[in-house]
Amino acid sequence: MTRKIVRHAPIVKGVPHLLHGGDYNPDQWLKSKEATWKEDMRLARLAGINTLSVGIFAWAALEPEEGRYEFGWLDEIMDLMAENGISAVLATPSGARPGWMSHRYPEVLRVNGDRSKNRHGGRHNHCLTSPVYREKTLAINTALAERYGKHPALGVWHLSNEYGGECHCDLCQERFRAFLQDKYGSLDELNEAWWTAFWAKTYSDWSHIESPSTHWRGEQDIHGLHLDWMRFTTEQFVDFYLHEAAPLKAITPDVPCTTNLMGTYPGIDYFRLAQVLDVVSWDSYPQWSGTERDVRTGAEAAFHHDLTRSLKGKPFMLMESSPSATNWRPVAKLHRPGVHLLQSLQAVAHGSDTVQYFQFRKGRGGSEKFHGAVVDHEGTENTRVFRDVAEVGARLAELDAVVGTDTPAEVAVVFDWHNRWALDDMKGMLQQKTGYHRTVVDHYKAFWEQGVPTDVIDSSLIAEPGYLDRYKVLVAPMLHMLRPGVAEAVDAFVRRGGTFVASYATGYVDENDRTFLGGFPGPLRDTLGVWCEEIDALYEDDRNALEWDGRSYEAFDLCELVHAETAEVLGTYGADFYAGSPALTVNARGEGQAYFIATRTGEDFLDDFYRGLVASTGVERALAADLPAGVTAQVRTDGQTDHVFVQNLNPTAAAVDLGAEGILELAPFSTAILDRPRPQV
Ligand code: GLA
Ligand code: ZN
Repeated sequence: MTRKIVRHAPIVKGVPHLLHGGDYNPDQWLKSKEATWKEDMRLARLAGINTLSVGIFAWAALEPEEGRYEFGWLDEIMDLMAENGISAVLATPSGARPGWMSHRYPEVLRVNGDRSKNRHGGRHNHCLTSPVYREKTLAINTALAERYGKHPALGVWHLSNEYGGECHCDLCQERFRAFLQDKYGSLDELNEAWWTAFWAKTYSDWSHIESPSTHWRGEQDIHGLHLDWMRFTTEQFVDFYLHEAAPLKAITPDVPCTTNLMGTYPGIDYFRLAQVLDVVSWDSYPQWSGTERDVRTGAEAAFHHDLTRSLKGKPFMLMESSPSATNWRPVAKLHRPGVHLLQSLQAVAHGSDTVQYFQFRKGRGGSEKFHGAVVDHEGTENTRVFRDVAEVGARLAELDAVVGTDTPAEVAVVFDWHNRWALDDMKGMLQQKTGYHRTVVDHYKAFWEQGVPTDVIDSSLIAEPGYLDRYKVLVAPMLHMLRPGVAEAVDAFVRRGGTFVASYATGYVDENDRTFLGGFPGPLRDTLGVWCEEIDALYEDDRNALEWDGRSYEAFDLCELVHAETAEVLGTYGADFYAGSPALTVNARGEGQAYFIATRTGEDFLDDFYRGLVASTGVERALAADLPAGVTAQVRTDGQTDHVFVQNLNPTAAAVDLGAEGILELAPFSTAILDRPRPQV
């Protein structure tokens, strides 16, 4: 087990530094460009900025009238950036479009789930099928690639911005039907997969099929339809991305392309979309509070970084973050001293090769004029936030050795979009409170707190032949849906000596959301050695208990009633008519073992359970030391040297006992980076 360590190339060819910068809108300052742009370059250099993202919402400035391009301003900015040693993350403008297009070609406007058609406005508001939108996008992307393909500033292509939403227009409906015809071949197959005999929903003609509708009454009860709609929407974005990328790839084959993702945004299966990206990037806005709650916030941010890195298993880009407050939360809390550096280095610790912001200079108008930025309305370097950013710039400049390094992990936690869609649709158990995302983070956090490097993967990777060989531990909380090949791969993993952990609500449905017959957890029944006969949902204030290892832990929300078949019972329920029955089991199988946690517990149980598991499986920890609560450690390595990032997420000081190397003192919200030779195995 474990995999070879890889040193990756820097994201921008010939720039062997961590990238530091952010979204920059010089097109908002055209009227005062003489005064502003040069000053921007001075300020950027002062802050240690070596990249700026330009053109993101610049379509109206680039093509003010249909077919008339205005590249002069962008030429000037690109030249200025090159002169100042700043790489351009150059965007295609499709995230928002000029008004002339919506007015002349209404087909480009999106139709919502309730079938209402959008007006021109907002952003991220285009039909994904519209031939006109595709034609206009292709034309401007081609023009951009031809004009800037050889420009010395060009570093990365940033396609569109935060792809999201969905379109239900007639053009998209047609495409959806074609997608289904291609997938199922016949209506009979489709009806079977979707279980349409329920409520007289059997389809007798392809033209009757429509996307799910939020209109009361429209189609909402066929879960197979909804799943396929989400898969189709994902494919629409994949297809649109490939369409946008085609001229860029043809003209500049060596310039990496990305589009910025949004963590665990529910509307697109990012594991699928990532397959077509050259480098993954994402926008991270943790909700820091300056209190002890920041430990949980830090765990959530770490989870999202690890997920983003795992999409392609290589360094990613932190494309956006706020150097201060955001403008879209109900409370625009400032970053406490130290927090900006902490969040920036946290991203690097988890595999980012960049720290970028929204935004470089605050605009004067529009809804984002009060969003945090490197340069405030005051306009100089004499602000607290600017100094925070400059401090990050200085720190990143010392970390060239980290560029392209690997983040090997022996533990994988599963987060799966298709599973989440099925859980979100499910009626029964705990409606609206299935808590999949939160539960996965709870399990992940127990490893993060111990400084155990962890990947976050999905079923598509599990089912990839040989993929699991790199891990010693696989944790799949609430894997309700078992997609094809998953149970087999997990079983082989366990037999070969792996440790698998599953929980309540596992193995109920197949990829079409049809239940397995013959007892849950379906095809994992032999692997886990349990049969889950029933599941009890508890009212909000109800409590049961999980009795294990001489302790009683609170159990709540969901309690699965389990028969241990070949599994050994480790823990039992403390109350109710199923008191004394199995609540925690382990099944020895081949060289490995499979644990089953039958009920939802607090972090106290998960911490104790996973502490034991980390010790018994011997998975790698970033630091051998005992980490105090709220202190965590991560490793990046080139195979020779480990860079260990030790972070204190507490609002108070902390100390780590490093044994022979003494005590490591950590100020509140601070980071120490320790270099050591990597132990060779
Ligand atoms: C998103 C967008 C940016 C900006 C920020 C504000 O991440 O991509 O354009 O709106 O949010 O936080
Ligand atoms: Zn459409």
